[in-house]
Amino acid sequence: MEVKTLGQFVIEKQADFPYAKGELSRLLRDIGIAAKIVNREVNKAGLVEILGETGTVNVQGEKVKKLDVFANEQFISAFKAGGEVCAIASEENDDIIPIDNAVSKSAKYVVAMDPLDGSSNIDVNVSVGTIFSIYRRTSLNGAGTLQDFMQKGTEQVAAGYIIYGSSCMLVYTTGKGVNGFTLDPSIGEFCLSHPNLTTPKSGKIYSINEGNYLHFPEGVKKYIKYCQEEDKATNRPYSSRYIGSGVADIHRNLINGGIYVYPTTTKSPKGKLRLLYECNPLAFIIEQAGGKATTGEKRIMEVPITELHQRTSLFLGSSDMVDTAMDFMTKHSAEKV
Ligand code: AHG
Ligand code: MN
Ligand code: MN
Repeated sequence: MEVKTLGQFVIEKQADFPYAKGELSRLLRDIGIAAKIVNREVNKAGLVEILGETGTVNVQGEKVKKLDVFANEQFISAFKAGGEVCAIASEENDDIIPIDNAVSKSAKYVVAMDPLDGSSNIDVNVSVGTIFSIYRRTSLNGAGTLQDFMQKGTEQVAAGYIIYGSSCMLVYTTGKGVNGFTLDPSIGEFCLSHPNLTTPKSGKIYSINEGNYLHFPEGVKKYIKYCQEEDKATNRPYSSRYIGSGVADIHRNLINGGIYVYPTTTKSPKGKLRLLYECNPLAFIIEQAGGKATTGEKRIMEVPITELHQRTSLFLGSSDMVDTAMDFMTKHSAEKV
C-alpha cells in the first residue's frame, strides 16, 4: 500500500495556494515535528514517578516539567525556529509572544494555540490534545501585535488539532476539506490515514458535563431531556460520552457523529472555552467536515473577538443535532435558569 506522509501531502497541496511560497507548508511541517516531541513526552508521562516528579530533578539531571508547560515551550520554540510566525498566542501565556528575530523577518502568519487540551487528564493516562489556529498577520512588519489576533474565525488560513490518544493523530484543514494523519511510530512519520474526513449529518452521541446540569440554561436542560427520550425514528435515546478532553470528545464525534456542548452556566456566564484557540479552530475543522459550530445562537466563526482569552459557549458537531439543540435554545431563551 502506498504511504503518504504529512510532509509529502502538504507539499502536494501547496498548488491549492497559487500565491503562497511554501511558508504555510513549512509551518504545518513544524507543527508536525513539535507534535511528535510532545507525543514522546505524553507517552512517558506514566514514568514520571520513576524519572522524577514534576518540579523535581529526574535521573538525567533534568528538571521534570508539567506536560502543559512542556508542550507550550515545545511549540513556541518550533515556531520561533521555523521563521514563518511573527507572534504566538497561547492559553498558557497571559499576553501574546511577539517574535522578531532574523528568521521571522518576513513572517506572514500568527498562530494561536491551546498547547495541552484536557489538562485534567494528564496524570491519568487519558487522551489529551493540542489545538492550533493560523491567521495571516494584519500588521505590516516586525513583530506581530495583539491586533493581529483580533480576527474572526472566518479569517483562519488553517487550523487543526493533535490528539495524543491510543495512537497519535494530526487533523487539519486549510479550508479545502479535512485530512487526518496517524503517527506511525516505527518510521516516526504522520501518515495520511483519514483523507477527506466528513462528519455524519446526525449521530447518537451527546457530550456535555452533566454535573453542571443545575447551572445550565433552560434550553440546554430541555435538549438533554430530548437526547434521553425514547424515539425510534430519530435513534433516541442517544449515548452520553464525555472524556473531559474537548479534542478527544470532538474527534470521536466527528468520526461517529454526535454533538459536543459547553454552554454558559451560572458559574461561567460567558462559557468556559476560549474562542481564539479552542472554539474557532475546532469550528473551522467541523464546518469543513460538513458539521456546524455555534454559540447556541450564532455561528462561532463570526463572533467578533475583542480579547485574547475571550470565552464563549459552544455547540459543535453533526449539523442536524446542532440545529435541534439551537431550536431548543431559541424556544427557551426567555426562561430563567
Ligand atoms: P484545558 O485542559 O485546555 O483547560 O481545556 C479543557 C476544556 C475542554 O477540552 C474540555 O472538554 C472541558 O474544558 C472540560 O471542562 P469541565 O471539566 O468543566 O467539563
Ligand atoms: Mn483546552
Ligand atoms: Mn490547555
